Amino acid sequence: MNFLELKNISKAFPFGHGQQIEVLKDVSVSIPLSGTIAISGSSGSGKTTLLNVIGGLVQPSQGEVLWRGESIYANGRNGLSRWRADSVGFIFQSYHLMPELSVLENILLPAAFQRRDRLSLALELIEQVGLQQRMDHRPAELSGGEQQRAAIARALVNDPAIILADEPTGNLDPANSEVVLGLLLDLARKRDKSVVLVTHDEAIAQRMDLRYRLVGGRLEDK
Ligand SMILES: Nc1ncnc2c1ncn2[C@@H]1O[C@H](COP(=O)(O)OP(=O)(O)OP(=O)(O)O)[C@@H](O)[C@H]1O
Ligand SMILES: [Mg+2]
Repeated sequence: MNFLELKNISKAFPFGHGQQIEVLKDVSVSIPLSGTIAISGSSGSGKTTLLNVIGGLVQPSQGEVLWRGESIYANGRNGLSRWRADSVGFIFQSYHLMPELSVLENILLPAAFQRRDRLSLALELIEQVGLQQRMDHRPAELSGGEQQRAAIARALVNDPAIILADEPTGNLDPANSEVVLGLLLDLARKRDKSVVLVTHDEAIAQRMDLRYRLVGGRLEDK
């Protein structure tokens, strides 16, 4: 069953004096209930924009984003925020952890927005990403790989259906890349999540179930 569907999505950004750059052109894609999808494409091809459209952070100029058949925009701003908090976990290339919070507090942050008690799940995730000894540390005291493992735990703490990862290993050396990617795919599989992962790395793309490439604003099968 496809539970998130992008139908004929176009996205144009204004620039300069009344000019527009059309980043996505008539993109349609179905994201199944579980499994992994790779999106590749050259720099500036629109990968981050597409991920943000999938996650409801960027509203398309045209087309529809359907969740179980209903537009994610059907229930107003609050409905959109609720859907995002419940259903989507984001992982970014540069981790985006809050510097003044500890690892544990960072991981609990999305749950705090939902006013849910997720302490036991957060502790379980911390153990699964191997950060038990680091959970009271601030991000600046961690290595890049450790920060990204914290970000993976944070993305999972609300038990979202979809994980969106924007070059999650782009800042890591090969050994740490392997650890972080392995953890992400393993956790996603165990918890039955679907993962949409942006990557430049062909070897990483090959490990995903489905592969697409953005070329000239259009999404091609690979
Ligand atoms: N908010 C915005 N306003 C105007 N232009 C934008 C905006 N966001 C992105 N763009 C433009 O859209 C194009 C695609 O950007 P995007 O960040 O999606 O590319 P990308 O494929 O993720 O690139 P990279 O691999 O370098 O991260 C770029 O030309 C960028 O300048
Ligand atoms: Mg990008």
